[in-house]
Amino acid sequence: MTEGPGLLAGVSSTALVVGMARATESRRADRLFEDRLAGRFLDAAGRARRAVWNEGTGEQFMAAMGDYFALRTRYFDDYFGRACAAGCRQVVLLAAGLDTRALRLEWPTGTHLFELDRPDVLAFKEHVLRGEVPRCRREVIAADLCEDWPVLLAAHGFRADEPTAWLVEGVLVYLTADEADTLMGRISARSAPGSRLAVEHVTRAMVASDRAKEAAAASPEGVVNLLSSLWKNEMTRPPGDWLAAHGWSATEEPLTELAGRHDRRVPPAFDPALPGTGRVSLLTAVR
Ligand SMILES: C[S@@+](CC[C@H](N)C(=O)[O-])C[C@H]1O[C@@H](n2cnc3c(N)ncnc32)[C@H](O)[C@@H]1O
Repeated sequence: MTEGPGLLAGVSSTALVVGMARATESRRADRLFEDRLAGRFLDAAGRARRAVWNEGTGEQFMAAMGDYFALRTRYFDDYFGRACAAGCRQVVLLAAGLDTRALRLEWPTGTHLFELDRPDVLAFKEHVLRGEVPRCRREVIAADLCEDWPVLLAAHGFRADEPTAWLVEGVLVYLTADEADTLMGRISARSAPGSRLAVEHVTRAMVASDRAKEAAAASPEGVVNLLSSLWKNEMTRPPGDWLAAHGWSATEEPLTELAGRHDRRVPPAFDPALPGTGRVSLLTAVR
């Protein structure tokens, strides 16, 4: 029998939360994408999944998030289609988690895709994905994004002189503002003209929302507290300005418009029409 991977804990376990949402979305008749492997990760996670997902609180959290993770996933899927059409053949997923885009999306011939995340997440992921064939050349790199990951990227064949499509999805909130800024500096220094960047920007301001406080108070052991205890980013600067300072011309698609475009309800946790809700920005940018 093959020995299984270790259980995901702490910030690594947050990858499972997104995996749960993708598995749920994939079962819908009107799904925005199909991630047939998401359910397999959850089955493999077993006990770890139950540890993250306390009865009741999990439901409450997912009700507040609504279709957010599905909309976010589709937004970034579409971004990669455009980036490849514009000529990018190098793709870097920073904090890839249980992202299966390398196996799920169609990539032009010659695409070289790099996935970076913590060693425990990638060991778990590779264990579950064994035997699966990616639709591009895929490199998996165990790295701490607060350390010198570009050295590892280069050692795996990344070329800083070629246009790259970068993705920073679901991770900025787990870095301090300084760490996030260093990360963006490292990305930008390795982005040839024509590179593209896609970012989910959310900060601790979310924890201060009435809804988040209510959910946290109702279930002190629950997933809202688990997630928010890991949130570090105190950045208050508008994300478009921040990206511009790093040399990127960014466009944000408001969540209300994204939800409307896909005929979905605005996720309650981020609905500007509701009192005390948080704000999240989904942006794409060009170098
Ligand atoms: C919420 S998950 C998002 C994963 C993926 N981008 C997605 O949307 O499915 C956050 C991920 O960030 C990773 N992460 C957090 N801090 C990190 C760090 N310092 N270095 C590398 N990965 C990190 C975690 O291991 C986890 O996989």
